[in-house]
Amino acid sequence: MVHPLPADLDPQRLPKHIAVIMDGNGRWGQQRGLPRIMGHQKGVDTIRNILTYCQDWGIQALTVYAFSTENWRRPPTEVEFLMTLFEKVLRREIKIWAAKGIQIRFVGDLTSLPYSLQEEIQRSVIQTRHNSGIQFTVATNYGGRQELVQACRAIATKVAAGELKPSDIDETLINNHLYTHGIPDPDLLIRTSGEMRLSNFLLWQMAYSEIYVTPTLWPDFDKTELHQALLAFQQRERRFGKATV
Ligand code: FPP
Repeated sequence: MVHPLPADLDPQRLPKHIAVIMDGNGRWGQQRGLPRIMGHQKGVDTIRNILTYCQDWGIQALTVYAFSTENWRRPPTEVEFLMTLFEKVLRREIKIWAAKGIQIRFVGDLTSLPYSLQEEIQRSVIQTRHNSGIQFTVATNYGGRQELVQACRAIATKVAAGELKPSDIDETLINNHLYTHGIPDPDLLIRTSGEMRLSNFLLWQMAYSEIYVTPTLWPDFDKTELHQALLAFQQRERRFGKATV
């Protein structure tokens, strides 16, 4: 069953790409006297649900921040749980996502992830790469500054080898060296659990993104919340630095 777009949303003015900082999983568990990891587990149900609604409502791309370069500082048991969870989710969901036409991608430094997770990631990317449905990107061991550092290094290497001149460096060239090349910049950033920060997420790509923050914790973020975020987005005037007269 395809869920219809709510009647009060204009299909012509939907964001093409929604980025999400899925914050509040740990607190969701703690508030219920449960271990934090239960919140992460429940957060996966939210991803599944929101991915379905985004696809059905005509959003072209969804990117979620699953693990930042700073998240390694969490207790080792939580880090280990998350790595295993990512792997299990991929193994369990990929057939369903592939059948729904979803194209999955990962951004971040994947080389320091457990080898078995890297394999699962590769398998899921290969299995869905020709799909033409929603582009679902999972930021894993991702940091915006780290992404820019690796882009600078790649460009500098080409300049040193004489393949590029410094004057060839422009915004398009930099875009092409980011993990997100080929994905449009996010029009809308949703951050759950009330924090007003970018937390090193898609720093270059979100130069003009609208930011929507809700106090709701990620495991409780549902269809109604997504609807509210899209209504708020459609009420904003996006000027990209221009003046309205
Ligand atoms: C933030 O909550 C959430 C995370 C660091 C992990 C989110 C990852 C998932 C839900 C799994 C995704 C898996 C795939 C393969 C798509 P937090 O722990 O920072 O919460 P807190 O702010 O309450 O401590």
